[in-house]
Amino acid sequence: MSGPVNEEDGRGEPWWAFGVLYQIYPRSFADTNADGMGDLPGIIEHLDHLEWLGVDGIWLSPVTRSPNADWGYDVSDFCSVQPDLGTMDDVDTLIAEAGRRGIRVLMDLVPNHTSDQHPWFLDARSSRDAAKRDWYVWADPKPDGSAPNNWVSSFGGPAWTPDATTGQSYLHNHLAEQPDLNWWNEEVRDAFDEIMRFWCDRGVAGFRIDVCNVIIKDAQLRDNPAATEEDDFEAQMFGQRAVYNTNRPEVHEVIRRWRSLVDAFEDPAVLLGETPVGVSELAAYYGSGHDELHLAFNFPFISAPFEAGALRAIVEQTEAALPPGAWPVWTGSNHDMFRFPTRWAGDDPRKARAALLMLMALRGTPVLYQGDEIGLGNTNLTHEDMRDPLGVRYWPYYEGRDAGRTPMPWSDAPGGGFTEPGVRPWLPLGDVHACNVDGQRSDPASVLTLTRALIALRRQEADLRRGDYRSLDAPEGVWAWSRGRRHFVVINMRDEPVALPDLDGTLWIGTGPSRGGEPVEGSLELGPWEGVIGARATSRSTAR
Ligand code: NOJ
Repeated sequence: MSGPVNEEDGRGEPWWAFGVLYQIYPRSFADTNADGMGDLPGIIEHLDHLEWLGVDGIWLSPVTRSPNADWGYDVSDFCSVQPDLGTMDDVDTLIAEAGRRGIRVLMDLVPNHTSDQHPWFLDARSSRDAAKRDWYVWADPKPDGSAPNNWVSSFGGPAWTPDATTGQSYLHNHLAEQPDLNWWNEEVRDAFDEIMRFWCDRGVAGFRIDVCNVIIKDAQLRDNPAATEEDDFEAQMFGQRAVYNTNRPEVHEVIRRWRSLVDAFEDPAVLLGETPVGVSELAAYYGSGHDELHLAFNFPFISAPFEAGALRAIVEQTEAALPPGAWPVWTGSNHDMFRFPTRWAGDDPRKARAALLMLMALRGTPVLYQGDEIGLGNTNLTHEDMRDPLGVRYWPYYEGRDAGRTPMPWSDAPGGGFTEPGVRPWLPLGDVHACNVDGQRSDPASVLTLTRALIALRRQEADLRRGDYRSLDAPEGVWAWSRGRRHFVVINMRDEPVALPDLDGTLWIGTGPSRGGEPVEGSLELGPWEGVIGARATSRSTAR
């Protein structure tokens, strides 16, 4: 096994808990062969940026072979590299070059489904007796020809597609081109063990696991009950509570199996689950705190409004719900949810800066999405620009996910430093003059400078890495908390200035004009949407 994938860093701290992760959407990161799409060599070329920024690990959205019905999330070979993104040698070079810079590489693992072009599915659909038939979920249509049960795909429409060759229907929780695997089948479990070993042996430091809460379905394929008025937005939208096709209790057995598999490596890999569930269900995905996921994405947080009360409540609930030893994850953007500088901050740079400070100062692992570090917002697109199958299908009712997937603006040159001048990127570049990496690197007041300083401060201060979280009293619209023995964080999430009494200490950093080194004597004044991190003069005793 190669690469610096030790469980703990020099201070005896697990690297994935105390570091900062960074999601790369490879197709939109950097294009080195002038085909308008980002590629693995493009990631290698920009590792210096990531090292300079101070990130500890990168999660690559899928780079495995795919017909791209869902841009890589429909995998046709789990142990390969998609040719237009690069080669397996590029992956090896990326792992080695990232490792030289102290950066680990996490792969995206998609265990719920494959592409309909995967050889497993081609075999499975060839006949009812095919060797891999039972690797997928098949059922007879009802006597009237309708779908086997009432499940709906999370991408809309029935979750079943009839297959003429064998007269049965197959299950897909996403597109029809993404048939769901049958995780009751032991051979499927074994196959994924091999896939995980394959990547661990190459030196990857872990996996982001796609929709890991849905992989097991009810063995009897029972109908979901109808949604009631008390149910959440999604249940209302689909008209049913997805109790039989999501969050089945048996999923935990599979996650525990994966955990034992990665733990058996000399340098255990980290499991970062995509867990779109409520806070009360999230805790279960950590198991005992030591036997399931190391990290589980917190969707209630990412989906919350950017308001002090709402975010604080979710953080408090999460802190209370997680088992001892479990470690939270905080994210503002990803390739599905749009970019927080627009979604949370409404393109107001003060709010984007406050959000970055928040992400870096909570107890847990922050996961930045490419472009968050420069406060990059969504790009306005037309229907013709759409590449996401959901945008293509549902426009204008739902504009799909492309607005948050447009290319990374590295400079204001033609092509934005993403691709060669004159080359048409696969998705349009936004306004590269308004926001780009080069322009912000040399600007001491830029979002990028702030992000880098926040990451450096986190690295420097043990309280900010490992200290406990405790909410502090604050006026409405202001969120204040302490970290560890001495540190405090205050974010004014209101349109007016605020003064917070009873604080003494020194500020380390602020989102507004430089406040580092400023003494706080009795009261802290903050401008609208300003956030600060500081340290008290004296330690407080900690509960943890
Ligand atoms: C979640 C991924 O993040 C998303 O992009 C994808 O479309 C679905 N899972 C299906 O794999």
